[in-house]
Amino acid sequence: MGVLDEAFIQAPEHRPKTHLTNSGDYILSNEIPTIDLSSLQDPHCDKTALAAEIAEACMRWGFFQVINHGLSLDLMRRVEKTVADFFSLTLEEKRRVKRDEVNPMGYHDGEHTKNVRDWKEIFDFFLQDSTTVPATTEPEDTELRKLTNPWPQNPSDFREVCQEYAREVEKLAFKLLELISISLGLPGDRLTGYFKDQTSFLRFNHYPPCPNPELALGVGRHADAGVITVLAQDSVGGLQVSRRSDGQWFSVKPNPDAFIINIGNCMQVWTNDKYWSAEHRVVVNSSKERFSMPFFLFPSHDTNIEPLKELISEDNPPCYKKYNWGKFFAARNRSDYKKLQTESIQIDRFKAA
Ligand code: OGA
Ligand code: NI
Repeated sequence: MGVLDEAFIQAPEHRPKTHLTNSGDYILSNEIPTIDLSSLQDPHCDKTALAAEIAEACMRWGFFQVINHGLSLDLMRRVEKTVADFFSLTLEEKRRVKRDEVNPMGYHDGEHTKNVRDWKEIFDFFLQDSTTVPATTEPEDTELRKLTNPWPQNPSDFREVCQEYAREVEKLAFKLLELISISLGLPGDRLTGYFKDQTSFLRFNHYPPCPNPELALGVGRHADAGVITVLAQDSVGGLQVSRRSDGQWFSVKPNPDAFIINIGNCMQVWTNDKYWSAEHRVVVNSSKERFSMPFFLFPSHDTNIEPLKELISEDNPPCYKKYNWGKFFAARNRSDYKKLQTESIQIDRFKAA
């Protein structure tokens, strides 16, 4: 990506401090909880202890790491390899599977978070190779559109490996969704009905070395829009999380064998602010490229997101008005695509008065 164009420069208050100290230690790291999922290997295991750990993490941080998650480490290394091979292709070849105004999936190197360009390139694909979304952002327009994934010819195993990986990450995401439901005192399958036509997608992020890492960000501060995110990353590091209690930024010490789980906006709304959708960002560096792979668990387009009836009461009235996921998703995609005059849409706009 070469020199740092003006479009990448963060306002002074958003510029990152480096995530490493001079001696190479992570600044304020290892704070988010690590949860060991090995007990899930036993199908009859008592899930209440795990659910309690998850509840604590979702309230305090909205972020945790899972280890012994059941995904094959061999599969993780295979997908990392084919993804690195894809990003090493020429720009011309990658742009053959470029996203456009209709289809937000595919290759893209111009994403903006809050109107500043991110120092990264990405490849996105829907979990379902035909995914139904609203055709427009107009609230009254009920027309739908089916989108399919653009797949590159090269690397030749790319599609197969990516889809195998996606199916495995999806399984993990639904196990976590069950644990989260239990952690809220709800039946384990309480939330599964919202995913019949899920709009979930996988993203591969490539952050090239950046000549001015003190001025730019790999991804600007944001909270993920969906239900939960299941993120794998390599050993380079750069992810930072804002602590719920005081907004302080913490670096997450990378573990390529673990997954980082974070709560998205939908879950924060469902739980009426009990669980926290934390802001996070990615710091880049001048010497090492970095790869990460978030899976965004997103509901069906026709899901209306509002605080769950079981979790509200006279003492805890709903903090949010209802909004339609599909329309939110469509508006978000439009605002990520181009630099807009206004900030991209956030759940705050659905806050009850
Ligand atoms: C994202 C994101 C974090 C990372 O893509 O939404 O927050 O570590 N990525 O790449
Ligand atoms: Ni994110």
